[in-house]
Amino acid sequence: MENIDWAHLGFGYRKTDYNIRCYYRDGAWGELEISSSEFINIHMAATALHYGQEAFEGLKAFRGRDGKVRVFRMEENAKRLQSSSDGIMMAKLPTEKFEKAIELAVRMNIKYVPPYESGASLYIRPLLIGTGPEVGVKPAKEYLFVVFVMPVGPYFPQGFKPTDLVILRHFDRAAPYGTGKYKVGGNYAASLTAGHKAHAEGYSAVLYLDAREKKYIDECGPANFFGIRDNTYITPKSESILPSITNNSLMTLAEELGLIVERRKVPVEELETMEEVGACGTAAVISPIKRIYDADLDKEYLYGQEPGMWSTKLYNKLRAIQYGDEPDKYGWTTIVE
Ligand code: PLP
Ligand code: COI
Repeated sequence: MENIDWAHLGFGYRKTDYNIRCYYRDGAWGELEISSSEFINIHMAATALHYGQEAFEGLKAFRGRDGKVRVFRMEENAKRLQSSSDGIMMAKLPTEKFEKAIELAVRMNIKYVPPYESGASLYIRPLLIGTGPEVGVKPAKEYLFVVFVMPVGPYFPQGFKPTDLVILRHFDRAAPYGTGKYKVGGNYAASLTAGHKAHAEGYSAVLYLDAREKKYIDECGPANFFGIRDNTYITPKSESILPSITNNSLMTLAEELGLIVERRKVPVEELETMEEVGACGTAAVISPIKRIYDADLDKEYLYGQEPGMWSTKLYNKLRAIQYGDEPDKYGWTTIVE
C-alpha cells in the first residue's frame, strides 16, 4: 500500500485490495465472493451496457477516535437499492446479503479506512448490473452485484466551505414520472452535459428545478437541497429526486436541535427568503451554498460567505454520530471488526 496523504484526499477512484461480488443466476443469488481484480468480464450484449440496467449506491465508513470503524445507515442503502431494482426491473438483493457484502468489503480493506484525525472516510460503492444478454428491450435474467471501496476526502473541493450553484433551465436530469427517485446510471448520464457546463463556469453543481413547470426546486447535482429560515429546515418533496439518506438523517437531527422540519414543494422564489442553503448527500456531506445563479433569468441569490449557524450545527452533529463522538441513539451505525 502506497503512502496515502489522508488529510488531502479528494473524491476519486483509488484502488484498494479487494472487492466483493455476488452473482444472480437461474433465479437465485449465489455466495459472496472476494476478488482482487478491478475488472469484470461480461457479455457484450449485457443489458447494463445497452439499456442502462444498472443501479448503484454510495455510503461511508468512518474510523472513530476509539479506533472503531462504523458504517453509516447501510440498511437504508440496501432498501434503496431494492427500490432502484424494482424501478428498472432488476433482481433484488436481500438486505442481509447487501449488509454482509458491505461489512466484508470494509473488513477486507480495513487499512484503507482513514485515521480519525484526517477527517476523511472510506467511500463504499455497491453496484448492481444486468449481465445477461438481451437484444430485445427487456430485463436480463442474470445480474452481478459488486462492492468496492476507496478512501475519500470531500466531494466538492471546498469541503465545508460555501460554494456556488447554477440553475440551468434548459436541462433536466429526470422526467416527472421518470426514474429520478431511483439511483440508476441513466439519471447521471442525463446530468453530465449540464454538470460539465456548470463546472466549466465555476459552479460546483447544477440546481435542478422540477421538469414539468420549472417552478419548484428539485435537487442539486448529486445531492439533495435544503434551506433554513425562521428556525425551520425546509427541503423539497418531489417524485423526481433521490430520497437522500443524509437528508433524512438531517431532518431527524434538525428536529432534535429544535428546528421545525418542512418537506414540501419549494417554489424557486423562496430562495430569496432563505437564511442558509446547502446541498447534502453521502459524498457532499453538507456543502453550504453562498450563491445561486439562475442563468436564464440572469438573477442571483446571495448567502453568507461562511457556513451558517444551523448548517454548522447540523454538520457537526451528523459527523459526531458518524465518527462515534456522540452516542448513536438512533442506531444508525454498524461497527465492523
Ligand atoms: N441526490 C442524488 C442525485 C445523489 O446522487 C445523491 C447521492 O447519493 C444524493 C441525492 C444524496 O443521497 P444520500 O444522502 O443517500 O447519499
Ligand atoms: C453519493 O453521495 O454517494 C453519490 O453517489 C454522489 C455521486 C458521487 C454520484
